[in-house]
Amino acid sequence: MADSSSIGLTDLFSPYKMGKFNLSHRVVLAPLTRCRALNGVPQPALVEYYSQRSTPGGFLITEGTSPSDTSAGYAHVPGIYTDEQVEEWKKVVDAVHAKGAIIFCQLWHVGRASHGVFQPGGGSPISSTNKPISERWKVVLPDGSHHTYPQPRGLETHEIPQIVEQYRRAALNAIRAGFDGIEIHAAHGYLIDQFLKDGINDRTDEYGGSLENRCKFLIQVVQAVVEAIGTERVAIRISPAIDFQDAADSDPIGLGLAVIERLNKLQHNVGSKLAYLHVTQPRFVLQGPVEFDQDEARFMRTLRNAYEGTFMASGGFTRELGMEALGSGDVDLVSYGRSFISNPDLVLRFKLNAPLNKYIRETFYTHDPVVGYTDYPFLNEQSM
Ligand SMILES: Cc1cc2nc3c(=O)[nH]c(=O)nc-3n(C[C@H](O)[C@H](O)[C@H](O)COP(=O)(O)O)c2cc1C
Repeated sequence: MADSSSIGLTDLFSPYKMGKFNLSHRVVLAPLTRCRALNGVPQPALVEYYSQRSTPGGFLITEGTSPSDTSAGYAHVPGIYTDEQVEEWKKVVDAVHAKGAIIFCQLWHVGRASHGVFQPGGGSPISSTNKPISERWKVVLPDGSHHTYPQPRGLETHEIPQIVEQYRRAALNAIRAGFDGIEIHAAHGYLIDQFLKDGINDRTDEYGGSLENRCKFLIQVVQAVVEAIGTERVAIRISPAIDFQDAADSDPIGLGLAVIERLNKLQHNVGSKLAYLHVTQPRFVLQGPVEFDQDEARFMRTLRNAYEGTFMASGGFTRELGMEALGSGDVDLVSYGRSFISNPDLVLRFKLNAPLNKYIRETFYTHDPVVGYTDYPFLNEQSM
């Protein structure tokens, strides 16, 4: 529940205590895949990019980062499962910390949203199911060509603990790299969401069928990383109403509440709070029930009121919408994606209510270390 004493007084520039972390404002860098970590290793360009977006007391979430060598589904996304990757991440984290900001690493396994070219030995991507993503979605190969997704290999029941263990080790690696915590990507149709959603999960074992069973993989991952690095350093991202990559569910609100109920229970059991719950707004629904488009605020509020902890929302927020959501107590933190890509000094621009640079979609996922990445102008550069 929102702290009623703060309603009406809170805005994007109100400080916030997120467990052990003291944030000086609420403008969060959303996790944004940028495909600049050549061959899975963070490059100097990432140091510059994250440093540009750091402010004292600001909070940043990294781009989706692979916990294992089966996790990637896009070219040049970073990993955090080798010593070399950990060493290079240290440089990013040090630069962010030098500016006084706090940074979590997002752990992202794409599951079936991959292709043999990204898999060890050219193997099949793994998933909760043997069903491929439908033909309306395409995988982009390293040479830029678009293809139908291949058939994945549904994980055997006995293999699932190994994947949980990969998350645990990646979380420990993140701490070794100096990260302040990790965010588990359980949204947007990727591996964990492939277990959560009944439109994908067709398993007949203890990980399929009932809500209890579909939530099991996520909760086991959360439990494992919480035991490894501590509750306050662990966050979860979900998108119950988003049907990206066929991740539809017959009851998005029921699913969201089921996840939240289990996270609340876990918090009670361990006696401390997770860092935050990050929910993507339903407005990106492509084929799901239209009532979520019309009643997005009610959907988000229901989840917010059910979750006993810090609530972050993402998706389509402007400065004004962020102010409104905070002022009404609907969120504690707002994460900004596209506008943070094109405005390295987004926090200052919001503070001054200055105009924003427009983002260039064509360079979102290209691999140049500068173009469309670290070359968006700062306010002071524009006025010169
Ligand atoms: C280029 C791009 C890459 C993204 N990569 C990720 C990602 O790695 N992990 C994730 O959870 N969300 C990812 N997202 C979703 C964003 O975190 C964010 O929720 C989305 O952009 C909506 O917020 P916005 O309207 O402020 O852009 C990505 C979005 C964009 C545009």
